[in-house]
Amino acid sequence: MVTTNWNRRHILSLADFTAAEYDTVLQTAASFREVLGRRTKKVPALQGQVVANLFFEPSTRTRNSFELAAKRLSADTLNFAPGTSSLTKGETILDTAKTYLAMGTDMMVIRHREAGVPLAIASEMDRLNTQVAILNAGDGQHEHPSQGLLDLFTICRVFDPENPRLDLLRGKKIAVVGDILHSRVARSNIWSLTATEMELHLAGPPTLLPKWFAGLGSDRPGKLFLHWSLDEALADADFVMTLRLQKERMTNYLLPSLREYHQLYGMTTERLKLCRPDVKILHPGPVNRGVEISSELMDNPDRSLISQQVTNGIAVRMALLYLIGVGKGG
Ligand code: CP
Repeated sequence: MVTTNWNRRHILSLADFTAAEYDTVLQTAASFREVLGRRTKKVPALQGQVVANLFFEPSTRTRNSFELAAKRLSADTLNFAPGTSSLTKGETILDTAKTYLAMGTDMMVIRHREAGVPLAIASEMDRLNTQVAILNAGDGQHEHPSQGLLDLFTICRVFDPENPRLDLLRGKKIAVVGDILHSRVARSNIWSLTATEMELHLAGPPTLLPKWFAGLGSDRPGKLFLHWSLDEALADADFVMTLRLQKERMTNYLLPSLREYHQLYGMTTERLKLCRPDVKILHPGPVNRGVEISSELMDNPDRSLISQQVTNGIAVRMALLYLIGVGKGG
């Protein structure tokens, strides 16, 4: 197991992740991916530690895979459900976090519809001089770091499942397509994928892909391009990541009809012909079938990595909990 030089406690953003940190997460996750293939999938690494999932916004994949990851590492888990919690009686989010702290929680996994909530809780934990680690499980349209890492892991595994690492992606091309503006997944992927020497092509309608995105990757090893025409972005792509229209975060954006959107920006088997013959499709989920991707393509086992993303998510989240938890002396 790789544990060298891991000094990061909170995981709030991928913006300042170093190449060495990415490779450490990838290699640690590869070890856990192998463990998940065994008959006995549990290891004692975090025995006695407490991981609390504080999800103030709905989730299927992230919440359950963080819980399963913690259980596979033998940690105790607590699951917070806002609708049945004392939030409904007026308790604040910070007081909720302090309540979990008082129960001896070591790591808190936070999802919230507002950007910055995980940072606010991390700052409070630091101010109180605690060793509690905060993991951002998606905050508004800011970031979703564990999703960015599991996407990177899934892409690297296509080339070397046993030894995934950044240098495998040199010269590869990925198109990220759809509602970039409202996507925290796209933000985290911009940081992780431009940390490699890949070409990252963002594509979407101008209302969902403002020009200022072009400035995000300028000082990084990868090259970032913007396209309002999907066909340009897809030319010779090795990977295509499609994104859901995140209507829950849209305020005053006028969208074409979903049918028109699918015609202009939906991924289909026909459109895939523009890409490399061995192109692979990713989607962070949840998917709106027939809008950003056709059902036929989503269910094509030769093209779709969507199920692998879910499985890999457990291994990557095990890696994060392990690296942080062992670093805390667990
Ligand atoms: N990708 C993702 O965050 O999915 P969930 O909302 O189901 O957690």
